[in-house]
Amino acid sequence: MVTASHTLDRVLVLEMVRVTEAAAVAASKLIGRGDERAADQAAVEAMRDALNQLEFDGTIVIGEGERDEAPMLFIGEKVGAAQGTGPRIDIALDPLEGTTITAKAGPNAMAVLAIGEQGCLLNAPDVYMEKLAIGPGYPQGTIDLAKSPADNVRSVAAAKGVQPSDIIVCVLDRPRHEKLIAELRGLGCGIMLIPDGDVAGVIAVSDPDTTIDIYMGQGGAPEGVLAAAALRCIGGQFQGRLIFRNADERARAAKWGVEDLDRIYQLEELAKGDVIFAATGVTDGSLLEGVRRRKGCITTESVVMRASTGTVRRVRGEHRRDFSTRG
Ligand code: FBP
Repeated sequence: MVTASHTLDRVLVLEMVRVTEAAAVAASKLIGRGDERAADQAAVEAMRDALNQLEFDGTIVIGEGERDEAPMLFIGEKVGAAQGTGPRIDIALDPLEGTTITAKAGPNAMAVLAIGEQGCLLNAPDVYMEKLAIGPGYPQGTIDLAKSPADNVRSVAAAKGVQPSDIIVCVLDRPRHEKLIAELRGLGCGIMLIPDGDVAGVIAVSDPDTTIDIYMGQGGAPEGVLAAAALRCIGGQFQGRLIFRNADERARAAKWGVEDLDRIYQLEELAKGDVIFAATGVTDGSLLEGVRRRKGCITTESVVMRASTGTVRRVRGEHRRDFSTRG
């Protein structure tokens, strides 16, 4: 019998790249066109078509929202060509991470996907998540979301052997982060403010070339699970806490089985077991080059990583047929 683990190992790793490539190429036609919805829709349709060609019994656990608000790739949607017969795979996806970025032709838009055996990925509701991440090489316990941002910066600085003012923190540029930014400024930290795209922001802590030491602040919970899946593969520490801002969101927490609203989730609780993370760049970014549409050839850059082996593969695609065009 083919187990899900065997499938993750031998069949699906590279297949995942086809899926993110399809979404990225489809979205790339809308780069800089000022139409977020159209870009997202193109990516969703292409990703769905590509997923439905794969021989597995897939369930979307993190998708484009709940059934009533998302026509496609909603949470709970079944995908894959082997329903009931193939290995059961849970899927977290964001066909276009950075819809606004794509509409404005900014940096770091990507098509993103993580898969795992059933039950491996936290079924996070579509609320915000407080995130804290550092790259590999630090002792366990260097960061703690229960402590203040300043304490975490001091702890990372001590572990790195530098002053807090030498630390660079990546934060989403949002009014809700005013207090956080003021606290970091008080320490003299460097703050890299990003307009959108915190999956790339979190992953950036694992790459010394980005100079980012810490990722901090609130972004989407689904993006938090996707970023956690990537850090499970490449190393690093991540903690997340779901943010429920009102009664409606708290009610949704119960629906998702979240009992302790203040719980701090560790990396392994967000993405456990043998997960695979794949992404293809839509626009140029810190992790990936974006899609290039040249006469007769479209190029893509993708990354696919696997937690159980820590293998990271970079895949450069040259596509001589625009496979995102149906028909
Ligand atoms: P979209 O692709 O859905 O537009 O998400 C972009 C993003 O910047 C995420 O990377 C981030 O987690 C989230 O939006 C932050 O949400 P908000 O824009 O509401 O602050």
